[in-house]
Amino acid sequence: MCGIVGFTGVAGAVGILMEGLGNLEYRGYDSAGVSVFSEGKIRTVKARGRLQNLADRLKESPLEGSCGIGHTRWATHGEPSDINAHPHGTEKLSLVHNGIIENYVELREMLKEKGYSFVSQTDTEVAAKVLDFCYEGDPAAAIRRASGMMEGAFAFGILFADRPGEIYAVRRGSPLIAALSPEGNFITSDVTAVLRHTRRYFTLEPEEIVRLTADSAVVWGADGKEIQKEILTADWNVEQAQKGGFPHFMLKEIFEQPQALDSTIHPRVHTGLPSFASDGIPDGFFRDIDRVQVIACGTAMHAGMVGRMVIEKLARLPVDVDIASEFRYRDPILTPRHLVVVVSQSGETADTLAALRLAKDRGCPVLAIVNVAGSTIAREADHVLYTFAGPEIAVASTKAYSVQLGVLYLMGIRIALEKGQVSEEEARALISGLLDTVEKTKKCLEMAEPIRKIAETYRETGSLFFIGRGFDYPLCCEGSLKLKEISYIHCEAYAAGELKHGTISLITPGVPVVALATQGALLPKTLSNVKEVRARGASVLLICRESAHPEEDLFAHRISLPEADDLFMPLLSVIPLQLLSYYAAVCRGCDVDKPRNLAKSVTVE
Ligand code: F6R
Repeated sequence: MCGIVGFTGVAGAVGILMEGLGNLEYRGYDSAGVSVFSEGKIRTVKARGRLQNLADRLKESPLEGSCGIGHTRWATHGEPSDINAHPHGTEKLSLVHNGIIENYVELREMLKEKGYSFVSQTDTEVAAKVLDFCYEGDPAAAIRRASGMMEGAFAFGILFADRPGEIYAVRRGSPLIAALSPEGNFITSDVTAVLRHTRRYFTLEPEEIVRLTADSAVVWGADGKEIQKEILTADWNVEQAQKGGFPHFMLKEIFEQPQALDSTIHPRVHTGLPSFASDGIPDGFFRDIDRVQVIACGTAMHAGMVGRMVIEKLARLPVDVDIASEFRYRDPILTPRHLVVVVSQSGETADTLAALRLAKDRGCPVLAIVNVAGSTIAREADHVLYTFAGPEIAVASTKAYSVQLGVLYLMGIRIALEKGQVSEEEARALISGLLDTVEKTKKCLEMAEPIRKIAETYRETGSLFFIGRGFDYPLCCEGSLKLKEISYIHCEAYAAGELKHGTISLITPGVPVVALATQGALLPKTLSNVKEVRARGASVLLICRESAHPEEDLFAHRISLPEADDLFMPLLSVIPLQLLSYYAAVCRGCDVDKPRNLAKSVTVE
């Protein structure tokens, strides 16, 4: 949410900043701007809308210079506009910001009394002016003092007018790293923005301040003392962060799922059994756990819903799943024997992070399932199981969901083994079923073309329903979220048996219903619900197994999935749902990778 990039080096900064912002645009894309030391002073260009608008403006007013900062915004305070776009500044400095300054109203009033005036509606302009107020020639001292006055989460990239060639940065809550290369040094919200230049980076802990020049990086701790940082190497490469011939990142990422699942599952299977020993989680870790609490947002939460059913079914251990933003409000009952599992692709989601901290305060062990190495959630959790999906760039999450399921399956089987609910032989059979199902995901991808044709029938659709039972219900939630998120079709997901308790009043002739009926044991019951909607004129897309033989007049379209154990069907059924959303969005002319009002990595609560 909001992307920051800064560069100081020998080459022209604007090209590098614009390239970095292009890579970060998934974090927010309602306006963008850059500030560069140019002709002896800081010059700023900003534009509302997509990055191309900023590029056009920079053609009219080019900025020369080799040190600058840039920002792509996802609006929190104030509408998207040229004025509200970052950077914000004063004669002394220019600043870009990711996060929210919670006490900005009080700070603005204080500054007004000191004679400051404001032109934008943003909390960021207040932050810039607090820093201006604190600045007496020592940037680090001013940043420390200003940070102390601000409440909330932030990552700042800052240029001081009297310090040409230097970039300063600080963070609390919001992500920011520094990356180093022979041609110059960077700050960035996400290492993928600078992968073409370098894979060497270091993370910043809260309140640490960094000063970058073209050939140096100095970091001061919260106490003002200089500290040495460990230099890390990003595992990801440039190709992974590019479209690789696909029209959209989302389609590429859907097609990467078999590989991502393979990379995530295989290293954790030893002699046919699941083990997290190489992740630093010793065998026996789950033996004394009384209960599991899963916490996540959005798609990751839907993965958690499947995980709950897997763990409860296999390990007979109670599992709760909570939406991270609601978790704390029910004052959850937690003990040190409750294992809290937080699931997050980005590892930066503010609500999930807040829930993690609450769980830690209550003394629970926290295990994170995370895709981004070194992210805040990964750093703060007691244990991490990384998913190896590679960078997920499309705002709509696809491959990250599948690999989260992969880890949750492994975890379910491991817990079942440690709790004595399955024998080693049974656990091996389950792992073999899991690996077979991963192989079958490739067959699901071969259905892209017929699914595209079905999706085209939704071109004019205003409203659509998903129904399913058992494991199919969380999949309906995920299919519905994906479709509404990128195609802007209003959708609802219902447990198939629940529809008749009210919502069936919305089923009128022609209303599309996607019925998920992949669970062999539940097929007759789900088909009864299909009959109910058919009787009211719904146009049904039935997603079921190849072996199912429902009456032909029950559905307008059918997608047949390969055979797998009921338990593993979610790995297969999610693929047609993702493809359906993707093609529906494409045929409706939507911006698939950057849907309206959204941003990846939601770092505000
Ligand atoms: C939907 C989507 C979101 C994320 C959610 C959590 O396609 O991507 O619902 O799943 O914002 O994000 P992470 O997993 O980064 O915590």
